[in-house]
Amino acid sequence: MTQHKLRIGVLASGRGSNLQAIIDASEQGKLDAEVVLVISDVSDAYALERARKHGIPGFHINPKDFKNKKEYEEAIVNKLREHDVRLVVLAGYMRLVTNVLISAFEGNIINIHPALLPSFKGLHAQKQALEYGVRYSGCSVHFVTIDVDGGPVILQAVVPVFDNDTEETLSARILEKEHIIYPEAIQLIAEGRLKREGKRVFIIQ
Ligand code: GRF
Repeated sequence: MTQHKLRIGVLASGRGSNLQAIIDASEQGKLDAEVVLVISDVSDAYALERARKHGIPGFHINPKDFKNKKEYEEAIVNKLREHDVRLVVLAGYMRLVTNVLISAFEGNIINIHPALLPSFKGLHAQKQALEYGVRYSGCSVHFVTIDVDGGPVILQAVVPVFDNDTEETLSARILEKEHIIYPEAIQLIAEGRLKREGKRVFIIQ
C-alpha cells in the first residue's frame, strides 16, 4: 500500500451499488484509493445515503439551481477540487458530461457501462443486448471522453446470455461483474499501471 491514497470523487444518480463496491474494496484495504466525496444530481439518490453511512461527504448538486449546464458542471468541478479529487468515477451518473468536466479532469474520469463496448452504447444496454440476440454480453470500464461511451476501454468482463433471460436477470449477472472490475480498474490507476496510446490502454505488468 502506498502512503498517499488516490482521492476519488464519485458521481452517481441512483442506487449506487458500484459506489458501494468501491467503498467496500477501499475499506477492506484492497485499494490504494479512497472515496472522499460523492456528488449526486438527484436529491434522494440512495448513493448519497450510502456515502453518509460510511462518513463520506455527500452533496446533492441540483442542475435546476443553475442557469445552464456549463454553470452546473463548473459547480461540480469546484466541489471536486475543494476535496482535492484526483480521479472522477462515474457510477450510474445519468447525465452526459461535457467538456467543462472532461477538460478539468483530463484523462482522469472513468465510467462503467453494462455492455461489451463498442456494442450497445447509451441507455438500456442490457435490453439492447437481449433484443439483438447476442450470446454474450458484459461490462466495460472506460476512460470518459466527449464521445459518449466511446473512450478507451480499460477492463471488460463477459457474461453469457441465456434464452430465458429477462432484462432484470441479465442486468443482475452483469452487475456482479461490474462490482469486480470497477474496483480492479481503480486499483490499476492507483498503482499507475495504465498506459494510454490512442484508443488502446496497456496494463503495465
Ligand atoms: C450500472 O449498471 C452501470 O453499469 C450503469 O448504471 C448502473 C448503475 O448502477 N452505468 P449502480 O447505481 O452502481 O447500482
